[in-house]
Amino acid sequence: MSHTIALAGKGGTGKTTISALLIDYLRKTQSSSSILTIDADPNSNLNQVLGVELNDTVVGILDKLAGLKDGPPSGMTKNRFIEYEVQNSVSESKGFDLLAMGRPEGPGCYCYVNSVLRGLIDKLSKAYDFVVIDNEAGMEHLSRRIEKSIDTFFIISDYSRVGVRSAKRISDLAEEMKLKIGSKYLIVNMADGDISLLKEEIKKTGLKLAGIIPFDKEIENLSLAGKSIINNLEKSKASGLFTKIMASIKFTQKEAVTK
Ligand SMILES: Nc1ncnc2c1ncn2[C@@H]1O[C@H](COP(=O)(O)OP(=O)(O)OP(=O)(O)O)[C@@H](O)[C@H]1O
Ligand SMILES: [Mg+2]
Repeated sequence: MSHTIALAGKGGTGKTTISALLIDYLRKTQSSSSILTIDADPNSNLNQVLGVELNDTVVGILDKLAGLKDGPPSGMTKNRFIEYEVQNSVSESKGFDLLAMGRPEGPGCYCYVNSVLRGLIDKLSKAYDFVVIDNEAGMEHLSRRIEKSIDTFFIISDYSRVGVRSAKRISDLAEEMKLKIGSKYLIVNMADGDISLLKEEIKKTGLKLAGIIPFDKEIENLSLAGKSIINNLEKSKASGLFTKIMASIKFTQKEAVTK
């Protein structure tokens, strides 16, 4: 049974960075489990933060299919072709696999890519113990139902009222969309001061505050240098605190309640 973890939040709040901390945490603490990470942001950059190459993207595969004059090789349905290419494109790495959505060209293409991605997430998630989805900024992905069911939903806010209010809107929309969600948490990231000023706003979200991650100079430096944060962050404040957050929410694979 797989456990799906999705991350959402306003732009630039740290979804991708925390996805990477999460993947690092999972591969260390659940080393016998298989982990698939999905970069569902058309502006793919999770691979860079994770320090792995991107072989191909879902969009790239669909383009390849569209470019085949005579369609897929005989005996292969379109879906089979897509699955086969995805299997080849999933970058197998150091304890996790990565699939990226890629950027569709032109308007109107998102629908098709999304429905393919949705189908792939459904299918692939059965083959992995953990599926981690790093979403694009905002709430579009919820309306497009990229993730139908989520076991653990982390909504990330930066250290601002606007960020916390966006987290509430995302949480509300997830409810309205009637997504199946096991546990929903707020994480406040890049806090470089006292959280008490945000307390009221956080309370209004109705979300459980899983924890606070401080602004971490090490992350900033690695990011500026274009370096992966995996393996380079052993003793940083942020990764230490993230480990504590996972412990405090008593995260276990058994938490998977939606399937
Ligand atoms: N705790 C932190 N300390 C210092 N810098 C951080 C921290 N978290 C994230 N950052 C930096 O903030 C920037 C935005 O982070 P990130 O790309 O993870 O956000 P995002 O929510 O995924 O953005 P987008 O909405 O564009 O996908 C990056 O430069 C990242 O290195
Ligand atoms: Mg991101």
